[in-house]
Amino acid sequence: MIRKLLVLALASIASVSAQASACNESEVTITTQADLDNLASCSTFGGNIILAETLGSAALNGIQEIMGNLVCSNNTQIASISAPQLTTIGGAFTLNGLTILTDLVFPVLETVGSINWITLPAVSQLTFTNGVTNCSNVLISDTDLTTLDGINLSSVSNLQINNNLNLDEITMGLTSISYQADISYNGNTAVAFPDLLWAHNLTLQGISSISTPMMSVVNASYLLISNDFESFSAPNLTSVGGVAIEKNQDLRRISFPQLTTVGAAGIEIANNTDLESFTFPKVTSVAGAIILDGDFFNASFPALNVVRGAVSIDSEGDFDCSAFDSLNSSGNIRGNDYRCEAASSSTSVVPTSTAAATSSSAEATTTEASNSASTAASSSSAGAASTSSSSYALSGLVAIAIFLGIF
Ligand SMILES: *[C@@H]1O[C@H](CO)[C@@H](O)[C@H](O)[C@H]1NC(C)=O
Ligand SMILES: *[C@@H]1O[C@H](CO)[C@@H](O)[C@H](O)[C@H]1NC(C)=O
Ligand SMILES: *[C@@H]1O[C@H](CO)[C@@H](O)[C@H](O)[C@H]1NC(C)=O
Ligand SMILES: *[C@@H]1O[C@H](CO)[C@@H](O)[C@H](O)[C@H]1NC(C)=O
Ligand SMILES: *[C@@H]1O[C@H](CO)[C@@H](O)[C@H](O)[C@H]1NC(C)=O
Ligand SMILES: *[C@@H]1O[C@H](CO)[C@@H](O)[C@H](O)[C@H]1NC(C)=O
Ligand SMILES: *[C@@H]1O[C@H](CO)[C@@H](O)[C@H](O)[C@H]1NC(C)=O
Ligand SMILES: *[C@@H]1O[C@H](CO)[C@@H](O)[C@H](O)[C@H]1NC(C)=O
Ligand SMILES: *[C@@H]1O[C@H](CO)[C@@H](O)[C@H](O)[C@H]1NC(C)=O
Ligand SMILES: *[C@@H]1O[C@H](CO)[C@@H](O)[C@H](O)[C@H]1NC(C)=O
Repeated sequence: MIRKLLVLALASIASVSAQASACNESEVTITTQADLDNLASCSTFGGNIILAETLGSAALNGIQEIMGNLVCSNNTQIASISAPQLTTIGGAFTLNGLTILTDLVFPVLETVGSINWITLPAVSQLTFTNGVTNCSNVLISDTDLTTLDGINLSSVSNLQINNNLNLDEITMGLTSISYQADISYNGNTAVAFPDLLWAHNLTLQGISSISTPMMSVVNASYLLISNDFESFSAPNLTSVGGVAIEKNQDLRRISFPQLTTVGAAGIEIANNTDLESFTFPKVTSVAGAIILDGDFFNASFPALNVVRGAVSIDSEGDFDCSAFDSLNSSGNIRGNDYRCEAASSSTSVVPTSTAAATSSSAEATTTEASNSASTAASSSSAGAASTSSSSYALSGLVAIAIFLGIF
């Protein structure tokens, strides 16, 4: 009798430790639901869980935390992935190339290291009842999502949302974006960040509206390219590293009522067909260049004291260059080039020989100005938004080329 109990006890110890070590594998590849059921007693799984390409559905019952990654790639058969008890994925939650996946059921998931979802053409909604509130990197590309309900972060490092053609709305309680948000070429997405205080970079392309009522700082660059809105407002923005507003076909009004300082990436307002008049009423200094190009007749900078980069103005309208002329003649355009060309008679261009001389001798401003050109050139990499960041490095090179070409 005692012997029998001892044997049972030993057996159960052995099975507990077998489970413990099964829960602690650095990586497990799941080919059947039975493989997942074997992990059901692991409240914490120590490594990565890879769902194989042949799996038809996956239910991660029992598991509360995955310390590594949860990955499913290149699976054209999987329709459903669920994890009823899972609260945490410490690493990456990667779903890539899952053509018939419709059901993503993670009712208690709250913390994820990074979300990496690419080409999930049948995923139109998330069943994330509690909602993910803690995740530092989010990439969502080429899904059928109409909203991002189920993901509501209070801070993020990198938020990239592109090519989700039915995405009508992004509303999130973010207070800060510490590296970038790039929202490009989705549907006509309405973007609202009601609590956002600052962002490092912000890139918005092809959106229908943006609301950032509290945002006061964009440290690096703010790019607004090929959007569909008629008016744009940054009501509380006081400082920006640089702002580029390009090719927004319907844009008629821009408003930067509090903006005072612009950094080395400068200001570029170009090729916004309907934008005829704009003002930066409080901007006192621009550390980079100012590039204005388009049909505008009025670009007013009543408080501007100094531009450390170059100034290049091409107006198809009846723009009066005199305010910039006097800024230039008082020595407050510090960059290596100043030109102002308008359809009106007040066009100011330096004689060609002088322009060549100044641009070849003024190396000090090249860095600032090329930073601004990188703002300017980013739209040339725009097209179909890329999911890799290498296009930005490329756009930097294109930017320098364009800078050399312009000046
Ligand atoms: C899990 O693995 C870690 C190291 O990877 C080790 O320190 C720990 O003891 C293991 N735990 C169990 C229960 O095997
Ligand atoms: C998925 O398929 C693509 C193309 O066939 C391949 O390049 C990629 O490495 C695959 N990814 C994984 C995780 O197997
Ligand atoms: C987010 O999750 C990480 C990893 O679990 C944790 O260290 C961090 O404190 C969490 N942040 C918040 C704001 O809860
Ligand atoms: C998102 O979180 C913010 C607070 O961080 C909250 O005010 C807001 O209601 C949440 N939105 C949703 C849809 O849950
Ligand atoms: C974001 O900021 C970093 C660092 O300042 C910069 O290198 C990068 O090019 C910026 N990205 C965009 C899209 O502007
Ligand atoms: C605007 O930003 C400042 C910080 O620069 C902040 O103190 C203020 O509350 C913000 N105003 C609004 C209306 O959000
Ligand atoms: C960006 O601006 C915010 C708000 O002023 C600040 O807290 C943060 O440190 C800045 N980031 C960098 C890299 O300068
Ligand atoms: C504006 O459009 C014209 C014509 O397409 C182009 O040559 C020019 O480079 C554009 N300007 C900027 C600054 O992108
Ligand atoms: C240009 O815009 C400024 C600011 O809105 C305005 O005060 C000024 O009257 C406008 N000038 C012309 C010529 O329309
Ligand atoms: C700008 O100012 C410089 C220095 O006073 C002068 O040489 C140059 O001709 C001016 N450029 C224009 C376009 O007026």
